Amino acid sequence: MSNLEGSVVRRPLVSGNWKMHHDHIEALHTVRDLGLRLKAPDVGSVDVSIHPPFTDLRTVQTVVEGESIPLALGAQHCYFEDRGAFTGEVSPQMLARLGTRYVVVGHSERRRLFAMSDAAVAATVRAVLRHEMTPICCVGESEAERDAGRTETCLSVQVRAAFNGLSAAQLGGLVVAYEPLWAIGSGRAATAVDAEDACVFIRGLVAELAGAEAASTVRVQYGGSVTAENAAELVSEPDVDGLLVGGASLEAGTFLDIIRAVGGCYRS
Ligand code: 13P
Repeated sequence: MSNLEGSVVRRPLVSGNWKMHHDHIEALHTVRDLGLRLKAPDVGSVDVSIHPPFTDLRTVQTVVEGESIPLALGAQHCYFEDRGAFTGEVSPQMLARLGTRYVVVGHSERRRLFAMSDAAVAATVRAVLRHEMTPICCVGESEAERDAGRTETCLSVQVRAAFNGLSAAQLGGLVVAYEPLWAIGSGRAATAVDAEDACVFIRGLVAELAGAEAASTVRVQYGGSVTAENAAELVSEPDVDGLLVGGASLEAGTFLDIIRAVGGCYRS
C-alpha cells in the first residue's frame, strides 16, 4: 500500500488553502506570478490546487483557463444544498459551474469557529461528490486530545462520520487531509513519523469502511505549518500523499518551492 513498496503509486496533491487572505486583485497577481514561474516538469508528477476565497474564484478561473496554467481550482468550503434560502452560503452546484475541481470540507476552522458538525461534513462530502468534484475532507485531533492519548479515537470518529456509507469508488477517489489542530498556524509541524502514523491509521479506517482497493487509492495529505523546508521530509513518508498548505501558499515563490520539493520526491 505504500508508494515505495506497493504496486499503487498515488499521485501527490499539493493544495494551497489561502483561507481569508488575498482579495481578487491580489489573487490575480499571485496566480499570474505562479503561472509565469510554474514549468511543465514542476507538475509532471504532482497535482496542484489552489483554494482562494469565494470572491476570487471567478478571477482565478479566468486566469488559469485563459493562460493554461496547470493548476486545479479549489474552494475552501460550500453548503450541501444546491439552492435555496440559505443566506450567505455558496452551493456545490455554483462551484462546479466555475470549473472547481476540489473542495475542502470540514476544515477545523469551519468545525471549531463556525460549528460545522460531523453530520454537516458528511452531507457536504456527498454534495461535492454529486457534482463530480473531489472533496478534501479534513480531520485532526486537538492538542488536548493528543496529550490524552485520544488521537486515534478522534480520527476514527471523524473519518467514520464523514465517510460511512460511501461506495469504494467514491471513497477511493477522494482526498483526506490529516491536519492536527495544534500544528495549524503554530509553526510546529508534526514530525514526519507522527504524520505517517496518522495517515496510515486513516488509510486503515478507509480499508475498514470500503475495502483494500479504496484504501490503496485514497490520497491522504498532511497539513499544519508546512514550509519549503519540511515539505520533502513529510512527503517522503510512504503514506503521506501530499500537503495542504496554509500560510506558505500565499506567496507564489514559496508555494512553488513546496511544489518542487514534493515533485523531487516523486520523480523516478
Ligand atoms: P498553515 O500551513 O498556515 O499552518 O495552515 C494549515 C491549514 O490549515 C491548511 O488548511
